[in-house]
Parts: sequence; structure tokens; C-alpha cells
Amino acid sequence: MNYFDINDIDNLQNWVEEAIVLKEKPLAHKSLGADKTICLLFFNNSLRTRLSTQKAALNLGMNVMIMNFGSEGWQLEYGDGEVMDQGKSEHVIEAAQVVSQYADIIAIRAFAKFENKEEDYQEQVLAAFMKYASVPILNMESAIGHPLQALTDMITIAEHNTKSKPKVVLSWAPHPKALPQAVANSFAQYANASDFDFVITHPEGYELDPQFVGKATVTHNQKEAFENADFIYVKNWSPFADENYGKVMNTDASWRISADKMALTNNGKFMHCLPVRRNVIVDDAVIDSENSLVIKQANNRTYAAQIAIKKILESL
Ligand code: CP
Repeated sequence: MNYFDINDIDNLQNWVEEAIVLKEKPLAHKSLGADKTICLLFFNNSLRTRLSTQKAALNLGMNVMIMNFGSEGWQLEYGDGEVMDQGKSEHVIEAAQVVSQYADIIAIRAFAKFENKEEDYQEQVLAAFMKYASVPILNMESAIGHPLQALTDMITIAEHNTKSKPKVVLSWAPHPKALPQAVANSFAQYANASDFDFVITHPEGYELDPQFVGKATVTHNQKEAFENADFIYVKNWSPFADENYGKVMNTDASWRISADKMALTNNGKFMHCLPVRRNVIVDDAVIDSENSLVIKQANNRTYAAQIAIKKILESL
């Protein structure tokens, strides 16, 4: 099996519960990955994903190889039938097959390039590796999804939730650079699959792809969204709409997360996947408060990765 997105999870609730058990005894399955190798290929930067996925694999007894493919690998061609007489030195057809000989699992991080919306939303890099590799693929954040982060976030909410149906709000916040929709897409997808009263709030023009919005309530009134919320999940994303895809259209500081806004919630917890720009996305007073879960979320990245890798290993 691959872990590409939520469709690779047979039962999300079971995965979340299993991860929480695994967290108690992270070395309990140390023999499962013995003599197995995972290769982590990074086309983009990382702190949490790189270290937590490596730690998860080590906890399962695996060997780990890591390559910063974006800066150290050959530039890959993805098109069919291309005459490769320009800058790209290697086709993904060979690259994926070659790495498959060195590893039992290939993990890949490849963000949206914002050059071509269709290519991004067709998951050009991950889809090509899934097509040509002969071993399972683990998604460490692709053009349009971050399933390890979303699984982490469901684990973190489960650990801190006290209600049968908590109010969970995904809020846009301003950022000076154009960021992908991947984290917001996956969070929305996993939240929709959970028993939440789920609300998304963002300025006009920042609508997400409807396939991820699903049954969520959407509002442009951030303060109204925050009222009585139990969890506030904050993320910037750039517009999905064709005309403004991948552009910065709004840096309105009134969308920043302040203590005043958090006071509207039901003593709500603040969540963010990190990295975060302090006092741009969120005020120090909020991220440093006792209701901030950001460091606990980062810790749970290990157990989300570990449950995903464990499921893949069990499928080999
Ligand atoms: N949240 C997250 O994916 O962090 P990194 O980009 O540092 O891996």
C-alpha cells in the first residue's frame, strides 16, 4: 500500500487510536522494520517532516537514507515522449525505478510549483513516482496534500478533545509569500471525515477546492467563526481560483490571530502546523499561551509517520 492521502486509510478513527497507543511504547514494533530501508527524497525544505519521519522509521527498526533531491539530484523530466535536449538530465521513469532498487519504501516531499495549476492538482511528482516505482510511496507533503500533518492534527485533537462533537475552525491568516493549499486541503479532508462541527473561515477569493471543503460551513466572518470554538487551526494558503492561483491577493493584518479573537472561543486550543511567522500569522500572546498546542503537534508528527510506515510495512 501507499500512504498518499486519506483514501489509503481504512478507518481514520482506528489509525488515530493506534497512534496514541503507539506513542506510549514507540519501540514496541522495533523488529517490524529490521533489514528494511526507507529513502526520504526532499524536493523542498523541511524541519519537522524530515526529522519526525526519520525518527518514526528508526523507532520501527528501519534503515534510513535521506537525499535533498531538489538541490542534489538531477533535474527530472516528467513528460511522456519528451526530447530531453534542454536542462533536465534524467526522466522520472528511470529515477523512480532506480530508487526502488535501493529502498523498500520511498517517501517524497514535493510542493506545488505554482507554474501550472493543472500539473499541481494532478500531483505531477508523486503521481509519477507512484506510477514508475515498484515499492510503496509515502507522501511527506505533495502539491495539494499533507496527509502526515493532517493525521497528526487528528491525533492532537483526539488527545485534547472533551466533547462528542467539538467545534473545529480552520482559519486563514495573512502571510507575505504565496503558500500552497496542501495543509489546508488535507486538514479539511480529515476534519470532514471526523465527527466535528467543522467551520472554515477566510477572506473572499480564498475559497479552497470544493472537493476538500466538503460539508464544512464556510464564512468570511472570522470572529463569528471563532465563537464557542474548541479548536482554532490556523494556516495561510494562496488562492485556488484559476485567475489568482498561487498569488498573494490579501495580506490584511486584521486576520492575524490575537488574544482578543481567542477570547471569543470556548477556551479554544490554538493549532498550527509550523513553521509559523510570529506576529504576522499569530500574536506572541497566543502562540505562547497555555492553550497553544503547536509543540505537542510537532511531537505527534513522529507517531503519525510511525503509524503510516507501520501500516505500509505490514502490507509488504
Ligand atoms: N509542518 C511541516 O510539515 O513542517 P516542515 O515543513 O518543517 O517539515
